[in-house]
Amino acid sequence: MSEKRPRRVLRTIFVLVLLALVAAQFVPVDRSNGKVDPALTLKAPDDVLAVLRRACFDCHSNETVWPWYSYVAPASWLVADHVHEGREALNFSTWLDEYPDEVDQEDARGECWDEVKKGKMPMESYVILHGEAKLSDADKALIRDWAGN
Ligand code: HEC
Repeated sequence: MSEKRPRRVLRTIFVLVLLALVAAQFVPVDRSNGKVDPALTLKAPDDVLAVLRRACFDCHSNETVWPWYSYVAPASWLVADHVHEGREALNFSTWLDEYPDEVDQEDARGECWDEVKKGKMPMESYVILHGEAKLSDADKALIRDWAGN
């Protein structure tokens, strides 16, 4: 009987983890995308915009494409946190509302380049799952020039 105990404990742990995972799916996750108004959305040369759309818009706009794993807890919590915090820090969909002055826009562009130059953006965990978001030297040069650096 004593031989069976560890197995029973393991089985109990397994069932509890499974139940916790099932229960986790019922925690609501906000995957809403805010309004997209072309009049307020960032205007930039096509090539620059293409890079930003590819590497930044999922977290920094109201045009987030929510991947399948954003529907599965606990991954969904991480993805939603990144998007909510990302939009809070910078939202290209409300760019002209946020930065009506050219001076403020210039500052914001500078911050974007700063993050890219330091390799902090796009987030590494994002690039692992979105290969297309990896920035080439040419992509980075486009962002640098756009930022006026
Ligand atoms: C996977 C989501 C994600 C992607 C993709 C992403 N960001 Fe971010 N970004 C965040 C989060 C979360 C924050 C806020 C927390 C932080 O500063 O790390 C942030 C913060 C920022 C900030 C503000 C930094 C500060 O210190 O205030 C800038 C600027 C920025 N990102 C630019 C970019 C640019 C430019 C791209 C694309 C090249 C990009 N991000 C891609 C999630 C993302």
